[in-house]
Amino acid sequence: LNSYLKLCTEFYNIDKPYAWPNTLAFILDMVRNASGPILEPMCGSGRYLLPIVAEGFDIEGVDASPYMLAALKETAKTRNIVPRVSQQFLHEMSLDRQFGFVFIQDASFSLITDREQAQESLRRIRHHMAEGGRFIFGACVGKKAGAQSWPWGGRWVTRPDGATILGTGLGYYDVQDGVSRSIGRYELILDGKLIDTEFESFDLRYYDVADMVQMLRSAGFAEIETLKAHAHRPPDEGDDEILFTAVAN
Ligand SMILES: C[S@@+](CC[C@H](N)C(=O)[O-])C[C@H]1O[C@@H](n2cnc3c(N)ncnc32)[C@H](O)[C@@H]1O
Repeated sequence: LNSYLKLCTEFYNIDKPYAWPNTLAFILDMVRNASGPILEPMCGSGRYLLPIVAEGFDIEGVDASPYMLAALKETAKTRNIVPRVSQQFLHEMSLDRQFGFVFIQDASFSLITDREQAQESLRRIRHHMAEGGRFIFGACVGKKAGAQSWPWGGRWVTRPDGATILGTGLGYYDVQDGVSRSIGRYELILDGKLIDTEFESFDLRYYDVADMVQMLRSAGFAEIETLKAHAHRPPDEGDDEILFTAVAN
């Protein structure tokens, strides 16, 4: 994985330490209605997983980034939580039990830009689900009208020790592939000196909705619906980030 490395993880955790309250409430509603354990692939640093453990639910997480998982474990320790997480790529995921509810937050599924890997990831998720269980995940969708690019731009966050972490990037939208491709640069600055730099690739696939429905069907899901992110109603025309829900069949 060439993203979510050390500095990116530090930046992410200072920038997004907590779950969005409305989104967490939406997910918790579904968690309460689920039967069986819960799985959160791409759980990252645990801003959704940890509050769900704290509510007393049996939830397991998977993520490909060792840095994000290390951050999750560190936060868990401060809350006296022992999380059940493992470092795996979704398209290679192998766990020893089945789950009644699976969710992937935000549009993270779009980080899987290779269609074959995406299809295999959906198969692995289905394989780990009990029949009748619900799967909900977000993805970027739709084809943009034309090629677009964006110049260097970004933000910074301040670490508790006063260091600055500068996060910048530039990228373009590849119309042919329906993928936006960016280079991210994270810089650690302490007392006016550059201490460390990390470069990352950050690509997102804008999935075709009909194609995603087909991929879900061929992975063994039924009752496939799209939703506006995070609401119980259909997406609006032109939404480029939506939720898919499906039932393991
Ligand atoms: C945008 S972060 C979201 C983290 C968390 N869900 C949240 O909302 O804070 C996306 C996460 O997906 C993980 N990831 C990206 N590609 C992955 C893959 N193919 N398999 C497993 N995890 C992956 C990254 O390591 C990162 O932690």
